[in-house]
Amino acid sequence: MSNSAIVPWVRKRSKPTCASVPAHVVKFKEVRLYLVERKMGCSRRSFLTQLARTKGFIVDDILSDDITHVVSEDSGSSSLWAWLKGCALENLSKMQVLHISWFTDSMREGKPATIETRHLIQDTSPALQEESASVPVSVISQYACQRQTSTDNKNKILTDAFEILAENYEFNELQSSCLAFRRAVSVLKSLPWTLQCIGATQGLPCLREHTKAVIEEILQCGRSFEVEKILSSERYQTLKLFTSVFGVGLKTAEKWYRRGLRSFSEILVEPSIELNRMQKSGFLHYGDISRVVTKAEALALGNIIDEAVHLVTSDAVITLTGGFRRGKEVGHDVDFIVTTPEVGKEECVLRHLIDSFKKQGILLYSDYRPSTFHVSKLQCQRFEAMDYFAKCFLILRLEATRVDGGLSCAEGDNRGWRAIRVDLVSPPMDRYAFALLGWTGSTQFDRDMRRFARIERRMILDNHTLYDKRKEEFLTARSEEDIFAHLGLEYLEPWQRNA
Ligand code: CTP
Ligand code: MN
Ligand code: MN
Repeated sequence: MSNSAIVPWVRKRSKPTCASVPAHVVKFKEVRLYLVERKMGCSRRSFLTQLARTKGFIVDDILSDDITHVVSEDSGSSSLWAWLKGCALENLSKMQVLHISWFTDSMREGKPATIETRHLIQDTSPALQEESASVPVSVISQYACQRQTSTDNKNKILTDAFEILAENYEFNELQSSCLAFRRAVSVLKSLPWTLQCIGATQGLPCLREHTKAVIEEILQCGRSFEVEKILSSERYQTLKLFTSVFGVGLKTAEKWYRRGLRSFSEILVEPSIELNRMQKSGFLHYGDISRVVTKAEALALGNIIDEAVHLVTSDAVITLTGGFRRGKEVGHDVDFIVTTPEVGKEECVLRHLIDSFKKQGILLYSDYRPSTFHVSKLQCQRFEAMDYFAKCFLILRLEATRVDGGLSCAEGDNRGWRAIRVDLVSPPMDRYAFALLGWTGSTQFDRDMRRFARIERRMILDNHTLYDKRKEEFLTARSEEDIFAHLGLEYLEPWQRNA
């Protein structure tokens, strides 16, 4: 983020200083200048840059969080500040934003001039004053938990392309590039407007040079050469196909690919490949579980779980989470939280439920993971790690008769049922709010909320708890609203978390 650089109002980016420029002796290491090109103009800017460098000043061509002094010839402070705030700088509040008079004074004195009130270009907009007390000064936050993201994605053409690039980086184990594109996807998803020219990316956080280049290409040509190359590559196609099977992760897919396998039939006839139980079910029900689940189907499953759970535990609480709680129309599975008002009683609920599904003849696959939850384990896990609650990953048989409006069937399919992936998690009631927040997602939203907690608040957030490192205490929460409040964040409804 901090090195995402934006040069204002310039078509052609002036080249960063490179080896061909004679090196100057740096006299003032603690001062790093940035000259705003608007009003100053390109040639005057390079002249002043050279002048300052010969006098021992560091002048960067690119605006980054390392800059200490921003110098502008623009007397309209509001447009300058609006632009600066759009640059997603984390240190903007610490930077001196100065009029050119400070620069000329400094050149005359041969050292950074003492800053006087007349040098300051002050921000007069009320928004900043409110915001400066809290976190990043930017029109659009770099954190998804400070942006509203509905299911209505106005930039699908761009985000689809970015998802492919991100996935390809993941396949090549380049995690940080993958994350950079995932963050860019999430920023674009939050925009209430469609990006139509590259200039409109000014002030958007989390867009690096590479992401901008892809945007520019798609806006100009309607497609990205890089994305098309990936889509046509055999390796991408094969890994994408293999990992689409329930139970097949990247490692396994890679292993099969390296052995020269390219299709499902090659895997299924290969005698040396021993599929595990999960993968066997994945292949068996592939047609059904690779198709989307509709909201009507999710609700029907909710009813089935509701009926089954209340036969054993009359006061159990069932909550639909995951994508459907965020208002999505379709999903790849259905996620539920199942708990009981009395802490401890929830532990056996999932096993009872699984027994009930078996008796009804609707259990096609079940992987039950008992709880490993202990207060002693709190606070030491990383985000990607699984949570410690009892959970199960299921494939259930859903009869068409149970679904309002019928099943979403493949053409010519008249079986009258389909298989659906269902995830159930069972946290104790005192952990419910944390589990609900974590399982509602989206994954990118959760990731950013944890990052926000860690970086901006020195707190550790996960699916079980919130820990304040400064106060050295655990913070309790009865609702998601409590967690947002502890973090000093404005509450976002589930349907605003589709980051
Ligand atoms: N999750 C989790 N721990 C797991 C599995 C999932 O915390 N062991 C969280 C994920 O981080 C995500 C949410 O549960 O935030 C739902 O996961 P998933 O079903 O994979 O994604 P959805 O957002 O529901 O998307 P889809 O509609 O495609 O199912
Ligand atoms: Mn889901
Ligand atoms: Mn899930």
